[in-house]
Amino acid sequence: MGAIHTFMETPHTDPNPAQWDPGLYTRAHSFVWQAAHSLVDLLNPQPGERIMDLGCGTGQLTRTLADSGATVVGVDRSPEMIEAAKAAYPGLDLRVMDALHLTSDEPLDAVFSNAALHWIPRADVVARNIVNILRPGGRFVAEFGGKGNIRTILAGLREAIHTETGRMVMNPWYFPTIAEYAAVLERAGLEVTFAQLFDRPTPGEGPDAMRNWLRMFCGTMLDAIPGEKREAVISRCEDNCRPSLFRDGVWVADYRRLRVMAIKPS
Ligand code: BEZ
Repeated sequence: MGAIHTFMETPHTDPNPAQWDPGLYTRAHSFVWQAAHSLVDLLNPQPGERIMDLGCGTGQLTRTLADSGATVVGVDRSPEMIEAAKAAYPGLDLRVMDALHLTSDEPLDAVFSNAALHWIPRADVVARNIVNILRPGGRFVAEFGGKGNIRTILAGLREAIHTETGRMVMNPWYFPTIAEYAAVLERAGLEVTFAQLFDRPTPGEGPDAMRNWLRMFCGTMLDAIPGEKREAVISRCEDNCRPSLFRDGVWVADYRRLRVMAIKPS
């Protein structure tokens, strides 16, 4: 048996790829923002409110929030994503900013976040930063991967990496339970008013949806694999996932979302 290396030993490893690919993101992953309209309804943005879209990516939801008449700032730690968002929506206020170092020019009425917080295992720091930029009475509305998210994909990928390279990898993302995340928010000083963990099987686009997804989102895991092994890992992961996730010719990612709303006490 080959040597077993561990290159992601703790859940605190940064899962973010060194560079995001905004082209692939907008071309093949539009489900990320298309599935979020009910989250915008939960936020219920009002004209004149000051709102931050935290982890705004290529800006589609920032645009939706701004259409409500709110004053919105979209922030993302990826300069590539912000550049693409600015090109698509030149009128929006879009900034490169890390959730671990959040600032705001003024206290905010709301912080909104979709499909971003599972990229940041240091959830306590993020929650404290959110509290600091909210006004008393302000709200935090977020959705991201919850406990059990992409269980099948992750198991398929870990098996493929182990078989092809002898390496063991851990889940680098942050997928908490309701109780774990409510405790994070309460420790930071927020009052949790709503929390829900639910399955959202998410169809991809076309026969290459699984490999596109792996290339788009699993950069840190794949980049750590010797180049000549990467295609074999991707193909083996597809084979592992096919029996459960390829249905009637469509790849369906086993997403599980954690949706929360919390208020900063007045
Ligand atoms: C998600 O949206 O659940 C997700 C996306 C990429 C990697 C991991 C999870």
